[in-house]
Amino acid sequence: MAFIKTQVIPAHKSGAIDRAVEHLIAGQLVAIPTETVYGLAADALNPDAVQNIFEAKGRPANNPLICHVSSIQMAKRYVAVTEIAEKLMHEFWPGPLTFVLPKQKTCAIPEIVGAGLPTLAVRCPANKTARTVIDQLDHPIAAPSANVSGKLSPTSAQDVLDGLVGKISLVIDGGLTSVGIESTIIGISNNDIILLRPGTITVDDISRVTGSAVKDRDNDTITAPGQLKSHYAPNAAVRLNAQTCGPDEILIGFGRIAGDITLSKHGDLHEAARKLFSTLRTADEYGKASIAVAPIPAKGVGIAINDRLARAAAPRPTGTKAHK
Ligand code: TXA
Ligand code: MG
Repeated sequence: MAFIKTQVIPAHKSGAIDRAVEHLIAGQLVAIPTETVYGLAADALNPDAVQNIFEAKGRPANNPLICHVSSIQMAKRYVAVTEIAEKLMHEFWPGPLTFVLPKQKTCAIPEIVGAGLPTLAVRCPANKTARTVIDQLDHPIAAPSANVSGKLSPTSAQDVLDGLVGKISLVIDGGLTSVGIESTIIGISNNDIILLRPGTITVDDISRVTGSAVKDRDNDTITAPGQLKSHYAPNAAVRLNAQTCGPDEILIGFGRIAGDITLSKHGDLHEAARKLFSTLRTADEYGKASIAVAPIPAKGVGIAINDRLARAAAPRPTGTKAHK
């Protein structure tokens, strides 16, 4: 890809949203803040622009993208919203819950967005800037996290620039994201709800609304080819459930385990989620061989945190090993 000039505009600056919409209409890529992580957006109805997302991120073509909508009505143009899905949308949208639903027969979103699957992932973000951009464009935006594929997700405009400067034309800077980890993803088929990716909206939150249990996804079948094991990889190796720090390690603490830096001194899981990716980035800057991470309780939001940590610690494909 040719090097392009990357402009950064603060979200609150007048005209910021108009600029983002102009870029999207012109088929360019724009990084926008959402409440979870920054997204790398393209007009979902423009296949060439969507193709550029895959190129800029180095993302395999078989890993489908989430379509971000500004309302339930907009989602209904493209996917079949079942009764149970609509109930959950009313409860949790706008917010960090993504639904994988069957595409409408008339769905105008090009195949490339959903990697040829018969389903499409839809989410209505809580972040006002993101929603206003979608509203003005009046098309959904396809947006994966705005990081190089396999690397840590971005929670600030600077994180986006660190990975994608020169590859995208515009970053809308909305400050630090408030949730910090990606949305919960559920698949709904018949009346079954299947958890595809844990997030801050937990299975208990979902069950409370639907009155039925959320099923775990069968780990033997890869529902989305992109849900690969190794992901969110810092440069250093990652060691989990660490009580103490070994030689050439930095320790990330939680609660009683203070560490060199901490996810949450008071053991608050929402705070730990918000700080997870930025803390891993900071830890990486120490340049140690390994990042040790204190145990995080596997309950509530802790399930999503442990999911991301397990991927950060998973064996990496050859050629992307820890740098020391
Ligand atoms: O919070 C979020 O969800 C962020 C922000 C930007 O909205 N987005 C995000 O996108 O995390 P991405 O592309 O990094 O992760 C989307 C995940 C991938 O694992 C992909 O495989 C899965 O969603 N996915 C997308 N479409 C799917 C489908 N039709 N069936 C199953 N999984 C799907
Ligand atoms: Mg991602």
